[in-house]
Amino acid sequence: MNEDELYTRYEDVEKEISMYNKSIWKDKVIYCNCDNPGDDGKGNYSQLATYFLQKFNELGLKKLICTYYSAPMDLFNQGVNGYVFTKKGYRELSGFSGSFDDPLSLKMLNEEADIVCTNPPFSRMKDYWNIIIKSGKKFLIISDLTNVKNQPYMTYFKANKVWAGYNRIDYFLSPKKELVEASGHWFTNIPITP
Ligand SMILES: C[S@@+](CC[C@H](N)C(=O)[O-])C[C@H]1O[C@@H](n2cnc3c(N)ncnc32)[C@H](O)[C@@H]1O
Repeated sequence: MNEDELYTRYEDVEKEISMYNKSIWKDKVIYCNCDNPGDDGKGNYSQLATYFLQKFNELGLKKLICTYYSAPMDLFNQGVNGYVFTKKGYRELSGFSGSFDDPLSLKMLNEEADIVCTNPPFSRMKDYWNIIIKSGKKFLIISDLTNVKNQPYMTYFKANKVWAGYNRIDYFLSPKKELVEASGHWFTNIPITP
């Protein structure tokens, strides 16, 4: 099994996000930068994107940006790798790789996003953390507990640039919708109430 293709369950998203005061999302641009909001053809789609789309009005979101990686078929055939949702509808993003470190993704991260929320690929975790913390943006992300006990993550914890969120993640879903045991946790730089 490709360890990067494990999906967050809706109930885990709901359990964590409901712990934060609703006002933190109001008028904000949320960026899910490893999240396909649409069916990948095998019935897999991001439950983070689903959550924010369902709660768009309730949370008073300004915009939801979702981008996701897929290797281009060839240089001239780069499909849709993202969507921008607003109250008025949505538009597709194409012509880029969708990777969180693609120049367009970085531009949206640095220039548009207010809060970043995702479960990034395990194989790129260190790069992901470096980029997200360097951006200075608010974030709420999932990572494996065993990973983040190592350097260089500890440097970020010591500098108070990140702390644990409220909940652990004990299961992910495989592409076949099987439960897969996990040792994940939410991590954030949004204030929490201990
Ligand atoms: C652990 S899964 C989580 C998926 C989704 N974020 C969720 O919470 O259910 C990580 C996802 O990141 C995608 N991915 C892999 N490399 C990526 C990259 N460079 N940029 C963005 N997404 C990537 C994988 O295809 C996979 O869907």
